[in-house]
Amino acid sequence: MGKIFEVKSRDESSNARTAVLKTNHGAIQTPVFMPVGTRGSVKGLTPDQITETGSQIILANTYHMMLRPGADIVAELGGLHKLMAWDKPILTDSGGYQVFSLNTLNKINDNGVEFASHIDGKKYMLGPKDSIGIQNKLGADIIMAFDECTPFPCPEDRLKTAVEKSIRWAEQSLNAHDREEQLLFGIVQGGIDLDLRSRCAEELVSMDFPGYAIGGLSVGEGHKNMIRAVNHTAPLLPENKPRYLMGVGMPPDVIAAVKAGVDMFDCVLPTRNGRNAFAFTQSGAVRLRNSIHTKDKSPIEEGCDCYACRNFSRAAIRHFFNVGEMLGPTLVSIHNIRFFQRLIHSIREKIEEGNFSSWADEQIENYQKCGL
Ligand code: GUN
Ligand code: ZN
Repeated sequence: MGKIFEVKSRDESSNARTAVLKTNHGAIQTPVFMPVGTRGSVKGLTPDQITETGSQIILANTYHMMLRPGADIVAELGGLHKLMAWDKPILTDSGGYQVFSLNTLNKINDNGVEFASHIDGKKYMLGPKDSIGIQNKLGADIIMAFDECTPFPCPEDRLKTAVEKSIRWAEQSLNAHDREEQLLFGIVQGGIDLDLRSRCAEELVSMDFPGYAIGGLSVGEGHKNMIRAVNHTAPLLPENKPRYLMGVGMPPDVIAAVKAGVDMFDCVLPTRNGRNAFAFTQSGAVRLRNSIHTKDKSPIEEGCDCYACRNFSRAAIRHFFNVGEMLGPTLVSIHNIRFFQRLIHSIREKIEEGNFSSWADEQIENYQKCGL
């Protein structure tokens, strides 16, 4: 197999870089933002609409797909790409996050987690072996090791136990995986404890994964704590492999993480907020249910090239939300995903032009000023 990750350009005054990541369903330009299609659908959007936002890769969840419709049924239907009618790259998360965040009644042992389904209470077991087996059946291009994502704040002994377990589970995930066409990424845990991050990163790097994620962040620790952990962890990961910051984030988080050397992001914010009539713009949030938009003929964001902004006024979108039309959530989700894709595209452009760092600082300050 050829080189899967090739760095194209590096920023001189930070760790930011652009690169190409090759997968079984095509190449991805990084830094990259991945919209989330938890249950096999980016909520409310067709694949054509997702493509038009400039998205190169989407994410789906092992946890949700194993419960419904089940991994065997997805395989029987021809795999996740076929089910989703998406022939570009897909990444599946391992379930190591959802099992902990969606279930309170879970028993953790060394083989994994026993949990009761959040849908019908039925008992399941999910561990590294199970998760990799399921992800092999789903057939995504990038798959994730099974890990334990700790909450914030987290007592030190629990954090340490979770790190040790995530290290063992990473190794078991690697041993359970035998499909070269699916890239298996390891996940560094350790909360905001820098020593635990170092320990976890060192162990995982010695296992030689084709890519690495930074997990356990964006769980309530705040921008400063998160960025401190990312600045510490990213340089511990191999320079010639992709780095993925899971579940992040707001625009300042993304920009600061790129400065630290992160290449990949996923976040539910553009779609979740979109369904709630919350639009991202460069001058802050626009809340489209607000009555000030009743007669507003302007688009969500002046200068935005998305389908929603080219065709619909704020007044029309406000009306759709007001009467409960499905088009409202669809249009704002399209705009929000396009907003993140335009942001990440600018980031790639600035890195390649060699003027990323100063631009990044201005952008972070601007977004923080306007509350994003
Ligand atoms: N999504 C967001 N954070 C995490 C994490 O720490 N682990 C996994 N598996 N998924 C995540
Ligand atoms: Zn738009």
